[in-house]
Amino acid sequence: MSTKKIAVVGGGTMGSGISLTAATHGIEAVIIDINEDQLGRAKSYHEKQCARAVSKERMTQDESDKAIARLSYVSSMSEASGAEWAVEAATENVEIKKKIFTQMQENFGNEVVLATNTSSISITDLASAVPEAEHRVIGMHFFNPVPVMKLVEVIRGDNTSEETTAATVALSELMGKVPVLANDFAGFVSNRVLMPMINEAFHAWSDGVAEPKDIDSIMKLGCAFPMGPLRLADYIGLDVCRDIMMVMYKGLNQNEKYLPNEKLVALVEAGSLGDKSGQGVYNYDKG
Ligand code: CAA
Repeated sequence: MSTKKIAVVGGGTMGSGISLTAATHGIEAVIIDINEDQLGRAKSYHEKQCARAVSKERMTQDESDKAIARLSYVSSMSEASGAEWAVEAATENVEIKKKIFTQMQENFGNEVVLATNTSSISITDLASAVPEAEHRVIGMHFFNPVPVMKLVEVIRGDNTSEETTAATVALSELMGKVPVLANDFAGFVSNRVLMPMINEAFHAWSDGVAEPKDIDSIMKLGCAFPMGPLRLADYIGLDVCRDIMMVMYKGLNQNEKYLPNEKLVALVEAGSLGDKSGQGVYNYDKG
């Protein structure tokens, strides 16, 4: 299989990373977002990353120009005709994602795979928004920063076809990623394991076991994590961490071990969301 053009719905962090990775691997990517500012930010991110790759001699100027030329930015799905693949990377909200799936089905025709970059929401549930296309719906979970992280967690819903799964594995490999299959349980594998660890780091902080920087140093230096769990929580977004814990709490028999820590919830409610708001566990105002 050799996909030539994909549509990426959502120009935020994940959509920008997915589209850049496609473009640097020879695939055209149309980024669709109703927010013009978001499209502008996606474009500057792409230009900055390509310029950096050239300056570090990871790409030639010609390769960078070609990658940039493969990227386009539009505000409606109707402007992304000819896409052979669609991946939704919108906000982590079931109703919004279902609406987008209905629109993708209407706009992209009956052959296109409809993938979602959800980090925890049931693929079978999202697929129920497009009953006629359930066999073409699949989870394609990328990790941030997408150009750097090797994994794509591939999640089949109850009705995802073998053909859709095989095509998703092939596209992930074409994008230079390592696809690994997981079943459709809340949080899949990645967040089922990662988020309780992050939540536990908040419990350790709340209980006074150590201050955040020491919790992070211990986990970085003692367990060889590139970032400590609290720094990583800020990087992912504290609201995202809280929401994923709640999806797992609701989706895994309301087991209390998945309830988000109170300090985490309080920070989110105070608007301290991590890197993106300049304040989370740590303060980023001064970089
Ligand atoms: N886009 C593209 N490239 C990026 C990047 C970005 N946003 N951020 C960093 N990089 C690249 C840099 O350009 C650099 O490459 P070069 O040196 O070749 O230019 C390389 O990554 C290393 O970056 P830095 O030197 O700036 O910093 P670092 O060595 O501290 O690495 C990191 C930064 C890659 C983010 C590293 O800290 C890391 O791996 N952290 C853990 C990230 C992680 O766990 N991500 C998964 C989060 S969970 C998730 O995404 C899913 C979910 O459902 C919540």
